[in-house]
Amino acid sequence: MTKHWKSLIAMAVIAWAAAPAHAETLTLASPDGKITVTVKDDGGQATYAVDYNGKQVIAPSKMGLLFAEHHGFERGLVIAGSTAASSDTTWEQPWGERRLVRDQHNELAVTFKASEGPNRQMTVRFRAFDTGIGFRYELGAQPALEGDVAIVEELTQFGVGDKTTTWYTPADGFNRNEYIYRMEPAGEVENAHTPATFKNPDGIYMAIHEAALTDWSSMSLLALRPGNFEARLRNWSGGPKVKTKPPFKSPWRTIQIAPDAVGLINSDIILNLNEPNKLGDVSYAKPGKYIGIWWAMHINDRTWASNKYHGATTAETKRYIDFAAKHGFSGVLVEGWNKGWDGDWFNNGDLFSFTEPYPDYDIKGLSKYAASKGVQLIVHHETSANLTNYEKQLEAGLDLVKSIGSHYVKSGYVSDAGDAVWVDDKGIRHYEYYDSQRMIDHHMTVIKAAAARQIAMDTHEPVKDTGLRRTYPNWMSREGARGMEFNAWGSPPNPPSHEAMIAFTALLGGPFDYTPGIFDLRPNERLPVRPDMPRGDPKNRPQTTLAKQLATYVTIYSPLQMAADLPENYEKRLDAFQFIKDVEADWEQSVALAGEVGEYVAFARQGRKSKEWFLGAVTDSEPRDLSLPLSFLEAGKKYRAQIYRDGPHAHWDYNPYDIVIEEKVVTGGEVFAVHLAASGGVAVRFIPVN
Ligand code: NOJ
Ligand code: CA
Repeated sequence: MTKHWKSLIAMAVIAWAAAPAHAETLTLASPDGKITVTVKDDGGQATYAVDYNGKQVIAPSKMGLLFAEHHGFERGLVIAGSTAASSDTTWEQPWGERRLVRDQHNELAVTFKASEGPNRQMTVRFRAFDTGIGFRYELGAQPALEGDVAIVEELTQFGVGDKTTTWYTPADGFNRNEYIYRMEPAGEVENAHTPATFKNPDGIYMAIHEAALTDWSSMSLLALRPGNFEARLRNWSGGPKVKTKPPFKSPWRTIQIAPDAVGLINSDIILNLNEPNKLGDVSYAKPGKYIGIWWAMHINDRTWASNKYHGATTAETKRYIDFAAKHGFSGVLVEGWNKGWDGDWFNNGDLFSFTEPYPDYDIKGLSKYAASKGVQLIVHHETSANLTNYEKQLEAGLDLVKSIGSHYVKSGYVSDAGDAVWVDDKGIRHYEYYDSQRMIDHHMTVIKAAAARQIAMDTHEPVKDTGLRRTYPNWMSREGARGMEFNAWGSPPNPPSHEAMIAFTALLGGPFDYTPGIFDLRPNERLPVRPDMPRGDPKNRPQTTLAKQLATYVTIYSPLQMAADLPENYEKRLDAFQFIKDVEADWEQSVALAGEVGEYVAFARQGRKSKEWFLGAVTDSEPRDLSLPLSFLEAGKKYRAQIYRDGPHAHWDYNPYDIVIEEKVVTGGEVFAVHLAASGGVAVRFIPVN
């Protein structure tokens, strides 16, 4: 035998010895047995697959991690052990879409050992709920992974099938998460933000997202092959995707699964996969409704800058405080109060001060005035994504908020997606993506500093919500999709399908400070107020009926809910405004009753304080007749239903103000039939008849 043959045989023996003796298959089922996860190590690869009612919904899909300077987990993997557990608990939210949340799941933690290279192991922990699954990587400290570890690739795949319908916004664009939703077969999707929502050819709905995104970077779904996505992690500028050190855990990768579209909404798996409250008493983070010096800037009536059209003046703020007090709003947001807005603020984030008000804004006096009327100022912190400028002033800026007795900050990170700036110790500037690990770390720093001062945050241009409000309940709301502002200047504005779309997509991640409630539906057709600034394109306007504006207070959840229009526009329609005054922002229970992604959605929510039920339904450009069983009300009990519905001639485009406001007595259990106009809606308050 030649030397060559000898060495080949020797190599084959080594390969054989290293290969797993037999492939292992483990399974995990949801408590109701409908969802099954199958985990394998066939061919040395870690894979999982998911079935729903015996039908495959996720094809066998790879798992693994690759590192820059350590051996990763990709090949030669064998299942070395597993542990199983079950849990059924109920926990209480300080505020939320429901007070009590049930967490019932079965768990399987599978440990994979690498049979090639240095000894090392990784555990993948799976949890199966009746409404979906979650899994994450857990790596313990081990000699093969000593020191700092740089993750260069997460290999998690999601094989949804190329024919599966996908609703998503594209990842990687300059405008962060603020894109109009698309509907395409998965086979045509290149890179999708999560939550991304799916309906497969068997009619089963799914949504892929993540839970507890900390100490990692954000994941998008990158097509490896048509219909097979890989977790694409955002990288550090010029660096790896994640910088970490064992022991570490990845965020949970979540796959919600349901037989109908509303089943995705009526699921708490994202919250259940987050850690319990780490802040203790957060009674300062009270849900509520607010108004603000805000829309006036977006429609060019006023400026953030301190010229003669400055919005944030003492007099104007008093007018808003008076209006808030008169109509029962707990907060007044004031944007443009602080130095830094003059000039090109979008690109000059390093000029913002978070402690110095403009001279025409008496922050201390106004906070006293507000307090005397039972109102709190919501302090605005626009950073223009200059992280270092904000981080340097964070303590002082938040101290000022605390000192004026406010418990709320609305922050903002306006910039193009890859333009979040930070300056390192050497003075070198770095530009990061808004959903990179640097940014995620930044948000956690802010949330913790705010919590230390009993301040709640509402973050605009945020990283997507992954349920962290459970762990840090002072992180009350976020933007993170196209909000109302696009209807002032979006070109194009949000389409009629938008409200029924976000319910099944962005809102699966968490609350959305959409800032609803515009009553003047053609704001850019009014005469200009500022000679220096014409109105925007009249095509930019809310493409909804007035009734739909009201309905969104029920369909779009945010514990901080704005009435976004100008006080004078509400004064003109106090009849319709009454619903915004009555509706709550904190819920005992919430149920999505009916809907289809991007077409329509109907919700019932029970107020946490009043225990009154509210109903809201919205439709896209298709008019619809809905028959909604009032099964959430007590059967046989009578209620006064205060109904705000589209009038017979309502149409978002040419007759948006046709609204019928009426009161009817209804009985719990009966069917409520209602007509929704094109891009219309209905809002109802139910008052028990004693
Ligand atoms: C974008 C935010 O979404 C909006 O609400 C705010 O008014 C502007 N940035 C200015 O900070
Ligand atoms: Ca925004």
